[in-house]
Amino acid sequence: MHISGIIGFAERMIATTNPEFIMTKKIKVRRLSETIGAEVDDINLSQLNPSESNQLLEALKVHHVLFFRKQNLNSATLWKLASKLGRPTEYPFLKGTSVFPEIVELIKRPEDTENFGGVWHSDTSYLRTPSMGALLYAIETPEIGGDTIFTNMHEVLDSLSLGMQKMLSELYAINVSDKKGLTKIRPSSGASAFSASHPAVRTHPETGRKLLYVNRAHTVSFENMTVAESKPLLHFLFERTEDPRFSYRFKWSPGCLAFWDNRACQHFPFNDYQGSQRRMLRVSLEGCKPF
Ligand code: SIN
Repeated sequence: MHISGIIGFAERMIATTNPEFIMTKKIKVRRLSETIGAEVDDINLSQLNPSESNQLLEALKVHHVLFFRKQNLNSATLWKLASKLGRPTEYPFLKGTSVFPEIVELIKRPEDTENFGGVWHSDTSYLRTPSMGALLYAIETPEIGGDTIFTNMHEVLDSLSLGMQKMLSELYAINVSDKKGLTKIRPSSGASAFSASHPAVRTHPETGRKLLYVNRAHTVSFENMTVAESKPLLHFLFERTEDPRFSYRFKWSPGCLAFWDNRACQHFPFNDYQGSQRRMLRVSLEGCKPF
């Protein structure tokens, strides 16, 4: 072999076996819309290395929700993945698997009429420390329907007038787990209801960017205001949140995974696949107290 061939061969060997090289390989992040969402290609989530985990967390700060296709995960590998991206935490109203209490199976059978979380929300905003984000992995998806839509709450806030933003920045919002009309989509595990007050405009702890933090599923009123007084303003803010300008709609297929940041976005799963089955694995990541 010519000397340059030998050097090339040696370089390739080092590149594929040297952890230094693997650590610095750049992940491929493809933006999906102007406001929110990116797809990450050519990555094996069951074998994520520390550099890839860090790059995904950086990409999440920019895109707020990341999507992956053609993955092959189970409860154990999903838990392992989640623990590389944060700290898995139990979901208050759902029982996890016996081995991994943080992993829940979300299944909507053909005969079920309600879907889990079927109202616009940011997860567990009724807790003192709501979850930072979640990973949702598709095992079985309907041929048509069952999409999830994600919206950028930084953009929603920025779309409001400066006067409205200033007023909201002085308000605290009350969030509850048992808001009227939501019992069907939040099956109870016997736990009692939760309630927490958080700034209506919170700050993302890593980017420092402000976002609107009220949601249709859990926010009932503002502090020092009655429910009736809060209602018109909340109604206006919920409508603004659901404006399609700020969102991206994701079509699932088996093997897809979404990783979202509750400190930047809200989501809404469509319930438009009556008669079909949808089966997902879900894990939440621990978050901090909103400020
Ligand atoms: C959820 O709110 O975690 C469920 C989202 C989905 O099923 O698409």
